[in-house]
Amino acid sequence: MVHPKILLIVGGGIAAYKSCELVRLIRKAGGEVTCVLTEGGAKFVTAMTLAALSENPVHTTLWDLKNEVEMGHIQLSRQADLVVVCPATADLLAKMAAGIADDLATTLLLATDKPVLAVPAMNVRMWQHAATRRNVATLRASEVTVLDPDEGAMACGEYGPGRLPEPPAIMTAIARMGIQPAPGPLTGRHVLITAGPTHEAIDPVRYIANRSSGKQGFAIAQAAAAAGARVTLVAGPVILSTPAGVTRIDVESAREMASAVEAALPADIAVMVAAVADWRVAGTADHKIKKDGSGAVPPLQLVENPDILAELCRSSRRPSLVVGFAAETEQVVAHAQAKLARKGADWIVANDVSGDVMGGEANTVHIVTPAGVESLNEMPKALVAAALVERMADALA
Ligand code: CTP
Repeated sequence: MVHPKILLIVGGGIAAYKSCELVRLIRKAGGEVTCVLTEGGAKFVTAMTLAALSENPVHTTLWDLKNEVEMGHIQLSRQADLVVVCPATADLLAKMAAGIADDLATTLLLATDKPVLAVPAMNVRMWQHAATRRNVATLRASEVTVLDPDEGAMACGEYGPGRLPEPPAIMTAIARMGIQPAPGPLTGRHVLITAGPTHEAIDPVRYIANRSSGKQGFAIAQAAAAAGARVTLVAGPVILSTPAGVTRIDVESAREMASAVEAALPADIAVMVAAVADWRVAGTADHKIKKDGSGAVPPLQLVENPDILAELCRSSRRPSLVVGFAAETEQVVAHAQAKLARKGADWIVANDVSGDVMGGEANTVHIVTPAGVESLNEMPKALVAAALVERMADALA
């Protein structure tokens, strides 16, 4: 669908600020946005901000005579291809489920004949309350798409499900509803991503592993898919759900990962985020290694694993843009610069993993290229992913 029209209803929650980023992403992807700001939403973002980002008038009240004469509120709800409620507060979800229409937003939601996507954000207890669960079930049964909120630390200081999904994930959900804003910046491109740790077997029950959670790589896969790319995600053992629209290949060891990468070529962009084990055990035991009672420890002989990134860079089927990651605990940028040359990558994205980056929600990265170093502020991994994908698309353009 070329230039889909999205009616965005911004509810009253702290996550409303993320709706501004959503407007920007929809616009960037070629969509048109008209915003409706609830009274609560206006406590968190201004109509001016949304008007400037959407380049459209923002509607706030049912009782605006000028708007009503130029375009009745029913028409406003009908001319959209999709209605997105973001953030969908507990109150908005309850009113939607009950069919209450006591302001412009809820009236439009009741009057619309178009698909509706609700993106909830609220305190964890409010999300888990039986009333909200009932309302969500009612809405889903009546074909409103209600996303699950993200889990994590909340503005109110509590922890759990209730955070607004990141804007790139909302874009993916919009695409999944068949509203693919006109070609994204990576439409027609194949992006190959590795993510997570590898497990190197010692014997049938033991393995060598590392603390990689796979979150950063999965976030990049999601952002690349939202940008229109065909995405192949080669994932080590992680407990993460596959982002919508992404082809996932599960592997365990470095050697399996290397084969899966090879098999997925050709690609336009490769992003090697996996924390591949540098070494594996020479001669994995066929049976569980047993203590022999003497106190002697089994000799574990290690051999080096294939360097997937370096081999890809040397390959005749090298993607046009190859991005490596560097997990460092000291001299982050200097080590990344050395790695850039040694591996033959175009960029190395360096991150300091001395804190709780591995497994954590946020990341601080430095993009090291032969042209210089760009350091990004600490931000959620989804935003790091969006920033990287934006730069990758620019680099290929
Ligand atoms: N990498 C890879 N295959 C390996 C090791 C690493 O593809 N066998 C990739 C990673 O996915 C990452 C980059 O190489 O994109 C750098 O990984 P890192 O572990 O930081 O580098 P090492 O090669 O292990 O270098 P060092 O031992 O100096 O840290």
